[in-house]
Amino acid sequence: MADLKGKHYIETQDLTSEELQLLLDTATELKAKFHRGEPTTCLPNQTAFLLFFDKSTRTRNAFEAGMTQLGGHAHFLDADVTQISHGETPQDTGRILGSMGHGICIRHDLVLNEGNHYMREMASAVDVPIINMQCDVDHPTQTLADLMTIREHFGNDLAGKKIAVSWAYAPSYAKPLSVPQGLITLMTRFGMHVSLAHPPGYNLVDRTLQAARQNAAASGGSFEIVDSMDAAFEDADVVYPKSWGVYDLMLARQGLSSPEEIEDNQRACLAKNNDHQDWICDQRRMKLAKSDAVYMHCLPADRGAEVTDEVIDGPQSIVFQEAENRLHTAKAIMA
Ligand code: CP
Repeated sequence: MADLKGKHYIETQDLTSEELQLLLDTATELKAKFHRGEPTTCLPNQTAFLLFFDKSTRTRNAFEAGMTQLGGHAHFLDADVTQISHGETPQDTGRILGSMGHGICIRHDLVLNEGNHYMREMASAVDVPIINMQCDVDHPTQTLADLMTIREHFGNDLAGKKIAVSWAYAPSYAKPLSVPQGLITLMTRFGMHVSLAHPPGYNLVDRTLQAARQNAAASGGSFEIVDSMDAAFEDADVVYPKSWGVYDLMLARQGLSSPEEIEDNQRACLAKNNDHQDWICDQRRMKLAKSDAVYMHCLPADRGAEVTDEVIDGPQSIVFQEAENRLHTAKAIMA
């Protein structure tokens, strides 16, 4: 029997299949109780610290509302207004917060080679669980909700199902790489055929590509990289087109400190995105997938750029069910 008590949740790769199954079963049970209006107060008087280095709507509220519903309390911490901005180390910050509460949840996702390292540094120094609310490598609370949502549609046996994880155009900001990386590493563990599509230069972190290949070989699934959204969508059961930043520029963010340098990097990322405005999920592309295919996106989506309103508001879209499942999976992880 899997037992996750006290364990960190930093990447889905760190968990066994049995542990992931326990989280999914717990999320399903908590969801049913939520919809029946039954209390789920299994963490009375406990405190979770939510430390954000980036913005959030879904994740923050899933964890805050979730902790309330579990009988505890979540503190929101904006890293910019803590002593982290004066250089306090992750180990010292973790020791302090860990001595005052029961878990530390962190979002630190905008710079390659920073967030995951920060979380693991803190994890090495604390006695309470660290939960990754999105880093530069993985967004494991998002992908667990995605897996739950896909299983609600297609059943628990996903062997042979195809998911298209595609880059899509966005003019708003250079989005982190962690969602596609998390998807290719997690979905390949369940025998799915994972097709990753992106324009040149939008490659993902190498170790996540290697993990996806190894997971696919072990599960009987497959993993391929193609250079067009159309190719990835062909006969897919699930399509998951979303934007992320160009790799070299996301890597170049390391060490940038002045607002001007960060602004210049953002502008350069968006200029590159502009070269690929035809990477949009529209009705024509949806027709390339299976007739019962579902459209997914972690949100927020750039409407009219990543996806047309017709698709995201259409009958194949399950994005709001997917977003609701962020609550149930966040509660399962904390519970
Ligand atoms: N999908 C997701 O993580 O949303 P937020 O950035 O709003 O938390």
